[in-house]
Amino acid sequence: SNQFLILNSGHKMPIIGLGTWNASDAEVEAAIDAALEAGYRHIDTAPVYLNEKAIGRALKRWLDSGKVKREELFIVTKLPTSANRASDVEATIKKSLADLQLDYVDIYLIHSPVSAEANADGSLKFGADGLMVPDLAADITTTWTAMEKLVPSGLAKSVGVSNFDQEQLERVLKVAKIPPATNQIEHHVYLQQRDLVDFCKAKGIVITAYSPLGSKGLIKVNASAGINRELPDLFDIPEVKEIAAAHGKTPAQVLLRWIVDNGIVIIPKSSNLERLKQNLNVFDFKLTAEEIAKLSALDQNFRICDWSLLPGVQRHPEYKF
Ligand code: A2P
Repeated sequence: SNQFLILNSGHKMPIIGLGTWNASDAEVEAAIDAALEAGYRHIDTAPVYLNEKAIGRALKRWLDSGKVKREELFIVTKLPTSANRASDVEATIKKSLADLQLDYVDIYLIHSPVSAEANADGSLKFGADGLMVPDLAADITTTWTAMEKLVPSGLAKSVGVSNFDQEQLERVLKVAKIPPATNQIEHHVYLQQRDLVDFCKAKGIVITAYSPLGSKGLIKVNASAGINRELPDLFDIPEVKEIAAAHGKTPAQVLLRWIVDNGIVIIPKSSNLERLKQNLNVFDFKLTAEEIAKLSALDQNFRICDWSLLPGVQRHPEYKF
């Protein structure tokens, strides 16, 4: 039931992947087991999720057992904001590869266009004022040139970006010898980002949708930073519920099918075997043109993954939200 698309790098990417953001070590190791059992082969992680080692342990067990081959897996990780500069790219991917117990990742992404200074242990640096210390010397185009070198060196099969807007992509494309294969962005019925999606399509850059189900329960609203808003529950939208009932599917399956029908990769997160299976099983029904139009009309430009949860991020010139 897992389908693929072909990236501009020539590599195959499974359309449905497992998101692991906000999953604890114990949770993620069990989730990887359940996901691989259910048929997932694409796993999305990042050093800032603090679960690469746990994912590496689970993958090693599966690879050693022979139940899955490395070439069947599609593993995604990311260059963190605290290492977002050309000179840190190679050492940082090598650290991820060591933690994941892999020789290469299928795609390595610049996690965000924003760069921050790092503490000696590599963690993101906050000043005495409690705000992120921006690295104003770093530049996304020179970082991209370092990212491209990972392909011939064999550390990443493909390279891409995350959280980039059109203008940032245009700057990268201007210098790129290898164009980004994907731009991983927040995308769901309430934040459709249609102009950015269309731009990426026109440039052959596949969109990967994070928070495709609205990340309900995963976002910690930061009341101390004055951010205290009601997050929507996408499963409760009447149109979504109606369409789900009409097809005998769940609201989650409708939300996901609507995204993949637009040629977009999805990385829904779940730690529950039943829901993992549900999220993979979205190809046995078809949305009508009228249903697609109803879902497309729900856009509210509502960003759930609000970056202002990272205090001080607004001081960086690449922060555009
Ligand atoms: P759980 O891990 O308990 O399944 P997103 O992928 O947009 O970040 O959303 C993830 C959230 O949605 C998690 O809280 C997850 O909870 C929940 N979730 C994932 N799949 C489903 C589903 N099929 N039905 C209901 N909730 C789901």
